[in-house]
Amino acid sequence: MNGRDLVRSVKSVGSVGAAQRLRTVRAAWRRWRADASGLPSRGAERARVPGVVQEAEPGPGGGVLRFSRSELRIHVAVNGAVFWGWDGADPEPSYALAGRCPEPDPRAVLEPDKDGGWRVVAERVTVAVSRHGLVEVRTPGGVTLRRDLPPRWWEPVDGGPARWMQRSEVAADARFFGLGGRAAGPRLRDGRYRLWNTDPGRAFSPADDPLYITMPVQMVVADAATHLVFHDTSWDGTVALREGEEGAGSGHDRAGSCDLRMEGGPLRCWVMVGTPARVLLMWASLTGAPARPPAWALGHHHARWGFGSEREVRRVVAGYREHGLPLDAVHLDIDHFDEHQVFTVDEERFPKLSGLADELRRDGIRLVSIVDPAVKAAPGNAVYDSGAALDAFVRDASGRVVEGVVWPGASVYPDFTYARVRKWWGGLYAERLAQGFSGFWHDMNEPVSFAAFGETTLPRSARHALEGRGGDHREAHNVYALCMARAAYEGMRELVPHERPFLFSRSGWAGMQRYGGTWSGDVATGWPGLRASLALVLGLGLCGVPYSGPDVGGFDGSPSPELFLRWFQLGAYLPLFRTHASLWAGRREPWEFGAEVLGHARVALAERRRLLPYFVTLAYLARRTGAPYVRPVWWGEPEDRALRDCGDAFLLGDAFLVAPVLDPGADRRALQLPRGRWYDTETGRAYEGPGQVLVEAPLARIPVLARAGAVVPVHGADGGLELEVWAPARGRTGVGLVVPDEGDGWEEPEIERYVTRWEGRRLVVEQEGEDGPREPVRPVRVRGTAEE
Ligand code: GLC
Repeated sequence: MNGRDLVRSVKSVGSVGAAQRLRTVRAAWRRWRADASGLPSRGAERARVPGVVQEAEPGPGGGVLRFSRSELRIHVAVNGAVFWGWDGADPEPSYALAGRCPEPDPRAVLEPDKDGGWRVVAERVTVAVSRHGLVEVRTPGGVTLRRDLPPRWWEPVDGGPARWMQRSEVAADARFFGLGGRAAGPRLRDGRYRLWNTDPGRAFSPADDPLYITMPVQMVVADAATHLVFHDTSWDGTVALREGEEGAGSGHDRAGSCDLRMEGGPLRCWVMVGTPARVLLMWASLTGAPARPPAWALGHHHARWGFGSEREVRRVVAGYREHGLPLDAVHLDIDHFDEHQVFTVDEERFPKLSGLADELRRDGIRLVSIVDPAVKAAPGNAVYDSGAALDAFVRDASGRVVEGVVWPGASVYPDFTYARVRKWWGGLYAERLAQGFSGFWHDMNEPVSFAAFGETTLPRSARHALEGRGGDHREAHNVYALCMARAAYEGMRELVPHERPFLFSRSGWAGMQRYGGTWSGDVATGWPGLRASLALVLGLGLCGVPYSGPDVGGFDGSPSPELFLRWFQLGAYLPLFRTHASLWAGRREPWEFGAEVLGHARVALAERRRLLPYFVTLAYLARRTGAPYVRPVWWGEPEDRALRDCGDAFLLGDAFLVAPVLDPGADRRALQLPRGRWYDTETGRAYEGPGQVLVEAPLARIPVLARAGAVVPVHGADGGLELEVWAPARGRTGVGLVVPDEGDGWEEPEIERYVTRWEGRRLVVEQEGEDGPREPVRPVRVRGTAEE
């Protein structure tokens, strides 16, 4: 959404454009005034550092170190993660943690280190603290992964929250990833990254930062090990990154650095060390297992801002059918609401919505509804009235309800940091379910208020319950959407207890994967937007959010047929595969781009359908292990530096290496291969990694390579589950997991494990069982033997 969009939209709703514009100016003015009176001015500040260590008090899994001007609490948790907090900060309360803080690991003890320092030794990591408060994270072999210099606080002399700064150094060869959804990623190069969830106010390009999801979560990959650091503080901040440089024999190495500056909140962090897979397993055990979407949500979704009527929805669905294109879900945007008010329906244009939902469902197509948090501030509006009766809406420091401007005009905002409000909001989804919707798309929840000037969100002084602790928007802003997702998820669990909720949200924070996924927001139509789409999915996956995908074709404008097709081909291999665009953008139905594109799009869709059992398996494994479906190519070999720098290809689970075409006019592309043999799934040609190869990338398809030895569940021609086995190299073996689709409920599926090996010239495929290996009951199709 941008200013121009807003004005056009206001006109399209038929309200008085000038009045709405005046409202946005007034709202921005009110926000500015509220902050001027509601927030104390900072005034003089005093700087502080921890000082010198005075005493140590051992405790479970670690202990407390008392410095002359601060205190450091440190412990190793049973899941292997290390926590430390300055100024006595505890791990709780925390919006990121999935439940209670994990128990301390009794085997880890605080012991004296050299030069008057102390250390905690755990199985996979040693944390050493110098007498001045420098904290070093080391591998068990003693290699330093991260050095946190003694932190620095700036405290207002007249009281109030302290700002703080933490400078860290990492290995010269280290690369940074994560920090939420960053369009310029996945590798985060030198620069400043802000930690404040933001609607960029227009369709974004790689240069736009920050975006909707920011997280103080960094994954740092270096030769010695991978580590993840999470600073559990939801306040506004910035991270300045600088990659290191190796002396290359002639000079000294320069370490990489990371300066984290926070406007407030506790200085506390979690560190996890190991392989990427181990680190994400620990992360998921700390912040929650990723929600497992129902199988239909792993198919193809078509959205549109501006279907405008039931008739148009039917027309598009019929188009999919007539062109032989599978479709699994249709998303209705704000234009199906009555005057843009959430939890209502425009009965004139959608007179029989639940009938439409039934009809689509009979054809195997689900309806998904957008849900915006802002509530039209109008007595008589049922959602407003019920919220007001509960005192559900955010107030400013003077006690007045904060008004912003969003799609319905003057709007108020539920305070999702309040259990009571979450419960009320979760109950409202009953109306959506009665309309026949099966899933939800949370939007505008950074939260947004259109502004003529200044920031497009609530005033920083706005008050929030913060679970009874009380605080303001400076602390609540970044967790607003996370708490909204929680409200919806918990509401759905009560309303439809037998089904897994399907939810994805534009904004969020650490831990959001517990409730659902996300999508890339309003990505600009263009080749840079296509590249950013992949960067976001990869980066979010490394922050523990495995389910996401872009608006295929981009949000604004009209993609060329080639760009649309390349986007579509990429989307077909991403967890959320959704075409969507703005009210003013060109069409996104695959048949709108000519016969050639239509033919190739049909192939991409058919392949997605065929791979559905594999996506179902990946979704389950993400839940069990925290491993994203879409992984950087260095996932299994983080020590391979060439792979570490490669962001234009990805691994889809263990089996596939996908090399999307991200540039116009290409009919082949370079591809950095991980170790081992890889087969081009189209031609069967085998390539040997590691190293760089050129692969064919005609308009008809993007290169997808299968790992030798992979056992992949796919749909066979008869729709049944079949095993596609990619021959291991001679003398090698292969393996694959299969998680059958047990429906949309909560039953724990039985995982099947298959192995494959050569016996002479015969390739054997066996299913592992309690009584030893046996013939697979599922049909097996072997591929990749032509090379033998
Ligand atoms: C925001 C969303 C977009 C949606 C539009 C109208 O711009 O990001 O997906 O179509 O609002 O609801």
